[in-house]
Amino acid sequence: MRDYVLLYVNGRRCEVRGAAAFQPLSDLLRNEQRLVGTKIVCAEGDCGSCTVLLGRPRDGKLDYRPVTSCIQYVAQLDGAHVVTVEGLSEPGKLNPVQESFVANHGAQCGFCTPGFMASLAGLYETNCEPSRQDVTRALVGNLCRCTGYDSILASVAQVDGSKWQRLVERYPETKLVAELTEAAQESVTVVDEGRQILKPASLAEAVRMRATYADATILAGGTDLGVVWNKGKREIGTLLCLGEIPELREQTVAAGIWTIGAGVTLADVERTAVTILPQFAALLERFGSPPIKNAGTLGGNIANGSPIGDSMPGLFVLNAEVELVGPAGARRVNLNDFYTAYRKNVILPDELIARVVVPLPTAAERFACHKISKRRDLDISTFAAAILVQMNGDKVTAARIAYGGVAATIVRLPAAEAALVGKPLDDATLRAAGAAARAAVTPISDVRGSAEYRGLLAENVLLKLARELRAPQLAASSNGAAH
Ligand SMILES: Cc1cc2nc3c(=O)[nH]c(=O)nc-3n(C[C@H](O)[C@H](O)[C@H](O)COP(=O)(O)OP(=O)(O)OC[C@H]3O[C@@H](n4cnc5c(N)ncnc54)[C@H](O)[C@@H]3O)c2cc1C
Ligand code: FES
Ligand code: FES
Repeated sequence: MRDYVLLYVNGRRCEVRGAAAFQPLSDLLRNEQRLVGTKIVCAEGDCGSCTVLLGRPRDGKLDYRPVTSCIQYVAQLDGAHVVTVEGLSEPGKLNPVQESFVANHGAQCGFCTPGFMASLAGLYETNCEPSRQDVTRALVGNLCRCTGYDSILASVAQVDGSKWQRLVERYPETKLVAELTEAAQESVTVVDEGRQILKPASLAEAVRMRATYADATILAGGTDLGVVWNKGKREIGTLLCLGEIPELREQTVAAGIWTIGAGVTLADVERTAVTILPQFAALLERFGSPPIKNAGTLGGNIANGSPIGDSMPGLFVLNAEVELVGPAGARRVNLNDFYTAYRKNVILPDELIARVVVPLPTAAERFACHKISKRRDLDISTFAAAILVQMNGDKVTAARIAYGGVAATIVRLPAAEAALVGKPLDDATLRAAGAAARAAVTPISDVRGSAEYRGLLAENVLLKLARELRAPQLAASSNGAAH
C-alpha cells in the first residue's frame, strides 16, 4: 500500500503526500511546482484556461487528453502524466501552433492562450491535419474574451502539422507506460488531518473499502464534485477514488447489449455510440466540452442524478439497467426505478455503481433523443427528451417517452406513450400525445427557462423527435440548441 499519489508532470516524477494530495491539480501546478502558465479563471471547468493534458496508459501506449485542471483533484491522478503548457515544447522554444498564434495574432491578453495550446496539443496528438470542424470541436471548452476566435482559427489554419512533435515522441513513452501501469495496479491510502484518500486497485477492493467506509465520497471523474468542493459547498472527508479501476473502465457490445463500466468516460461512451447508437452520440457531442467528457464518467452522471443530466432520458427509454455491487453481491435496477426524489436514488450506503447495461434498439424499434439549451455547446440542458417506439408497419405497437428538466427527476410520460400506441406517427397523433405530455408535467421557472417555455417544449418536442424517428440520419445534424 503506497502512502502518496504518484504522478509525472512534464516528464518529472512527483510523489505527492499529505495535504498537497487534497488540492486541485491547478493549485499544485501553480503554487508548488511554479508552473504558472496554467491559469485559473472560473474554477468550475467552464472556461478552459486551466486546461492541461493528462496522459494515461491505454493498451500499451500513453493516451493524452485535455482536462480542466481546476476541477481535477490530485487525489484522482495517481498513475497519470500531466503535461502543462510549459511541457508542450523544448524549453525556450515555441511549437508550431504557438509560432502560428504569434504570427497570426491568435492571442491578445493571452490569459486563455495556455488552455488553447493544451486543447490543440490534444488534437494534434492524434490528428496533425485537422479540418476546421475538428478544430472548432476541440476548442468547445476554451473561452476567449479578447480575440473573437477568428484570429485563433486563422492561426490554427496556418499551422504546418508535419512539424508537430507528438508528446509520445517528446516524452519516453515506454518507460512512462511501464511505471504508470504499475502505479495504477497499486492501492493508495493518503491520510491528512481527518481526511483520507483511498485508491483501490480492483473492484473487489473498492467494494471492501466501500463497506468499511460507508460515509466515504466516491470520486470518479470529479467534474461534479470538483465544482462543489471549489465552491466550498462540501468538505472533502474520505475519498474513494474509482476512476482507474480496470473492471469499471470496460465496455462491451454483444448480442444487442451494450455494457458500459461506471468509470468509462463520456468521451469513450460517445466514441462507441457513434457506430452503435448514433442518435445518442449526437447528443453526447453536445455534453459539456471535450475536457469535461475526457474526465467525467457515465456512472458519475447517473449517480449525480441531476434532472437535467444529459445521459438519462435516452437510457430511460432504452430500459437501461444499473448494476450495483456491494458486500452482498451484485444486483440490477432498471434506471426507470432508480431515482426516488430530487438527486436521491436506491444505492445502499455500502454499494457503488459498477456498470450500466443498455439494450440496443431492435430492428423493429426506433430511438431518438434531444437536448435543448440556451447555447449549442458547453451548456446545461433546459429540457431534454428521448423516445423509443416499436413499429409494426406504419403503426406504433409500443412507446416509451422520457423527459428531463420538467420535474425533480427524469420522468416517463405514460399518458403520452398510450396516445401513440396503435396509431401511425402522424402529426395529429403526435399533437395528441404532446398535449397529454404537457398535462402530465409541472415544470418550474429558473435561469434556464420559464415553466411556460418548458411546458411548450414538453408539448412540441414529440413532433421533432418523430421527424427523427422517421429519418434517423437527421438526428445527428439537428441535435441543436433552442433556436
Ligand atoms: C463545465 C461543465 C459542463 C458540464 N456539462 C454537462 C452536460 O452538458 N450535461 C450533463 O449531464 N452534465 C454536465 N456536467 C456535469 C458532469 O460533467 C457530469 O454529471 C459527469 O457525468 C459527472 O461524472 P464524474 O465522473 O465527473 O462524477 P464525479 O464528480 O466524480 O461524481 C459525481 C457524483 O457521482 C457519484 N459517483 C461517481 N461514480 C460513482 C459510482 N461508480 N457509484 C456510485 N456513485 C458514484 C459521486 O460520489 C458524486 O456524488 C458538466 C460539468 C461541468 C463542470
Ligand atoms: S479555470 Fe476555468 S475551466 Fe478551469
Ligand atoms: S486572449 Fe484574452 S482572453 Fe483570450
